[in-house]
Amino acid sequence: MATKILVTGGTGYIGSHTVVELQQAGYEVVIIDNLSNSNRDVLKGIEAITGIAPVFVEGDCTDLDTLKKLFEQNPGIKGIINFAASKAVGESVQKPLLYYRNNLNTLINLLECMPQYGVKGIVFSSSCTVYGEPDVNPIDETAPIKPATSPYGNTKQISEEIITDYIHSGAPVKSIILRYFNPIGAHPSAKIGELPLGVPQNLVPYLTQAAAGIRKELTVFGNDYNTPDGSCIRDYIDVVDLAKAHVVAMRRMLDGEDTDSIEIFNLGTGRGVSVLELINAFEKATGVPVPHKIGSRREGDIEKIWAIPDKANNILGWTAEVPVEETLANAWRWQKSLEK
Ligand code: UD1
Repeated sequence: MATKILVTGGTGYIGSHTVVELQQAGYEVVIIDNLSNSNRDVLKGIEAITGIAPVFVEGDCTDLDTLKKLFEQNPGIKGIINFAASKAVGESVQKPLLYYRNNLNTLINLLECMPQYGVKGIVFSSSCTVYGEPDVNPIDETAPIKPATSPYGNTKQISEEIITDYIHSGAPVKSIILRYFNPIGAHPSAKIGELPLGVPQNLVPYLTQAAAGIRKELTVFGNDYNTPDGSCIRDYIDVVDLAKAHVVAMRRMLDGEDTDSIEIFNLGTGRGVSVLELINAFEKATGVPVPHKIGSRREGDIEKIWAIPDKANNILGWTAEVPVEETLANAWRWQKSLEK
């Protein structure tokens, strides 16, 4: 019988790509999502790729009763991947309580349900934001955690602590915490991707909309940083590569005999790419020009951060594989599919 996995936030950007990879690896998936930042059509996209409609529960994980009902109606869930969280840095500064409520209550409720319903492990979506501005680059998982610069970032730090404290208390559960660098791109089928709601805050959705003529031009936030071309550097990781890491993490957590109860992995490519380099890579990959101008720095931005992914490479046996040009071509294909 297929192992059953609950994916919270499974119709969201990273969630939907992970559902596809889980199904293709033979897992049975139950999704819960409140559709606050996604829509039902994503389920059709998932089914179009895998041929399997995941079980879908429309609901909010901040409500404990909703979760209990889900576990009662879907017995035998062995693992959880928790994507159900708010993720916009700027919005979190404006609405901190929303972020603390959504992100922390969801996690606490899930952890509380796990032993009760026999769930063995939880994979948690964390972020490289926990490292703040690193003292040196690239960084591994032992780099110090810096004071959070936004409520969003703080929820990731607190969540990691909640999981750690819970497991240290002797709770009979395991966890793998994945610290994502910058996920970009879309499924190569262009049937799922990042859904644009309003004006994109993140670089790649803005870039593809500028290339498509939906936005006048992309503003490069600063070219006076201490980097070779003056623009910020990030570690951009393909969303399908990222999704695959969750499948490997789940398998390790549920099937691994002697693995630690709590493990943390960076998920990145190990390559730092500047904003200007990313624009060039997009133009090279697609032949489509990106109208852009240099603007001032964005408040709160980190100058440069990229990963040492060795721990994930060696222990999970996972490596980011998709070249950035291919990732950007997929992002473009997805953008074009939205216009149809
Ligand atoms: C931020 C968060 C990260 C979070 C992610 C998803 C921090 C430090 N990082 O990543 O934790 O998971 O958002 O929401 O809080 N840029 C432009 N023009 C634009 C947009 C972006 O030049 O219009 C630049 C930014 O200055 C940055 C890079 O592109 O250098 C990437 O920005 P973005 O996609 O917003 O991600 P982060 O800020 O790295």
